[in-house]
Amino acid sequence: TAEAFVEELLGKMTLEEKIGQMNQASVSLVGGFDVPFEELIEMVTDGRVSQEKFEELMRTSERDYHEDDIRAGLVGSVMCQDPEKVNELQHIAVEETRLGIPLLIGLDVIHGFRSIYPIALAEACAFDENLFERTARMATKESRAKGVNWHFAPMLDVARDARWGRVSEGPGEDPYLGSLFARAKVRGLQNDRSCTDNYVAACLKHYVAYGACEAGRDYNTTTMSPSILRNVYLPSFKAAVDEGAMTVMASFNDLNGVPCTVNQYTLRQILKGEYQFDGLVVSDANAIRECVIHGIAADNADAGRQAAIAGLDIDMGTNIYRNHLADSVREGLVDESVIDDAVRRILRVKKWLGLFEHPYVPEELMHRYDTLPAEHVELAREAAEKSIVLLKNDDHVLPLKKDTKIALVGALADMPEEVVGSWALSWQPEDCVSLKMGLENKKANFEYFRCAGPEGDYNEDEVAQAIAYGEVIVALVGETTAMSGEAASRADITIPGQQRRLLEALQASGKPVVVLLQNGRPLALDWEKEHCPTLVETWHLGIQMGNAVANVLFGEKVPEGKLSVTMPLMTGQCPVYYNHPNTGRPGTRGKFTSRYLDAGHEIAFVFGHGLSYTTFEYHDLQVKDCGDKFEVSVSLKNTGDCKATETVQMYLQDVTASLVRPVKELKGFQKVTLSAGQRTKVMLELDKTQMGFYNNSEEYVREDGLFRIYVGGSSGDCLCEEITVQF
Ligand code: IFM
Repeated sequence: TAEAFVEELLGKMTLEEKIGQMNQASVSLVGGFDVPFEELIEMVTDGRVSQEKFEELMRTSERDYHEDDIRAGLVGSVMCQDPEKVNELQHIAVEETRLGIPLLIGLDVIHGFRSIYPIALAEACAFDENLFERTARMATKESRAKGVNWHFAPMLDVARDARWGRVSEGPGEDPYLGSLFARAKVRGLQNDRSCTDNYVAACLKHYVAYGACEAGRDYNTTTMSPSILRNVYLPSFKAAVDEGAMTVMASFNDLNGVPCTVNQYTLRQILKGEYQFDGLVVSDANAIRECVIHGIAADNADAGRQAAIAGLDIDMGTNIYRNHLADSVREGLVDESVIDDAVRRILRVKKWLGLFEHPYVPEELMHRYDTLPAEHVELAREAAEKSIVLLKNDDHVLPLKKDTKIALVGALADMPEEVVGSWALSWQPEDCVSLKMGLENKKANFEYFRCAGPEGDYNEDEVAQAIAYGEVIVALVGETTAMSGEAASRADITIPGQQRRLLEALQASGKPVVVLLQNGRPLALDWEKEHCPTLVETWHLGIQMGNAVANVLFGEKVPEGKLSVTMPLMTGQCPVYYNHPNTGRPGTRGKFTSRYLDAGHEIAFVFGHGLSYTTFEYHDLQVKDCGDKFEVSVSLKNTGDCKATETVQMYLQDVTASLVRPVKELKGFQKVTLSAGQRTKVMLELDKTQMGFYNNSEEYVREDGLFRIYVGGSSGDCLCEEITVQF
């Protein structure tokens, strides 16, 4: 069996060889700065290396994969996406080391490899598990052809504060939707084992509570009660572990004072203990060293000792395990059983991936996806279309008629490389379709005017020309890729640069204006909500952005996306999320209530909101007790004049409980497609096991009493039934 294989191999290993498996060598750049990449970034950040020098090194330097260390059995994994290099490194590991253990080859493949599909925050708006799984599978095929066998994905951080740049990388603010997303991604990455080319190890990140970083500032401290941790931040990780995820990445942040890199409670007690996770845990890049900076470790050796004891199996990029862990074992500071446990997990993942049998990338596979197959492009387009959210269409300007004379406005509309979004490493510029290209492909009747961009430029003449030209003005405004993602928090999340000024001028013209938003986080939309009758959220949609948006503009695709995250009016409302606990003075009742003097209580758009080119009516909500579950039914009618898909959402409120509970929590949904005028009865199930919560003693409890069940087309617009439950 696999376990017997692992035990036998472990039995043959020296202490140094074991620790070698726990070391992920950071690729460094040869020439002048032969330091791990993360350290180089630090040097650029603190000014020791200039930006120009860094860029020159990136262009001209050879990458050092630490071949000598691999040969000496001191390395267990690396990051690489060049299949020939992968084979070279695997050859060293397999043929030139004493025990011939192959390498894990990791990479950040967050929302696609070469075929980039929408950022996760956008894709979650599709509320479509099957889609989540298919896009993960597509990425897997492409990356494995390049030798990658380990994706640092899915990113599962619940994100409630739009100032945080990494909101873009995860499925939004809701733990239920996040858990379905998590499971689907793990299935997509890991479960198609018809041949070794079709699966990789998933890596759940960032474990845990990273999304709760204080004030939305990246890497910042997090503080939370046990019940919030268990009810909000852990469920998607638990779901993905239950689905069989093989690896987990510990997060950078401290949680209640203990960095997650050295956190025995989250790693050993919860993940490896309670959840019985039998895969491996890797640190985030450089994170063990950062424990010294956090002030929790005296020096590197101490940080490494604490991390190993806490259950952190692989050190990403600091060489601290490599340089110090053996001494810590010899000095009796770390028990060798800790090392054995880590190595057992690492070997288990390698065995599971089939690396001992098939360490190399077959020649015939390496270039299979160099020309993107039509079905990959098609899936990227489908995903992009389903992720678009129609926020407002007050005057029914959309869909546009095919011959409408359009002035296309905004720098982003002609920046194909900006469709990609954060954390995409393997895309090719020639695959990217900008909105301008999308309209050209559609042979639309349009002229393009740059006018203004996210970096602050503004051209008054062009604005006047665009207004004079268009029967309808289509404006694409928002953020560049670099404005969200890692280390890209913003203290002001309004539309950047002079793009608001552009919108003001366009709206003042009296012409119909379609405002399209391209961004990697929710933006603060107070002005836009009030003054823009037609507003569409298009996010960073990936390579097929232009074609997908063009299809929606002309009604060839009826929008169906629903927000995976709340959109605030003002930055100062952050963190803001629909499933918040009730206060004793909810903000709707006048002066002495929980609200802002200058922003009131309202937000711009609620979680689950998303319009269509038709309308849907909900009637006759019924709830039937069927023993261990409730059957919830509602009558849904398409009352408009086109066929369309609605996401019927079911929420629950535990009205009286021993802890203050959220005003509403998503518990189920169903996507339903109806022709114009068609009516159907939609059935949803609420399992009674879903009706409890974790209290602060970390027990899952279900409490008798009054509950409200809500069903509707968004979290803000629902029918409601009250039920009294005795468990
Ligand atoms: O996977 C990433 C992580 O999300 C942020 N730090 C670097 C890691 C490896 O690239």
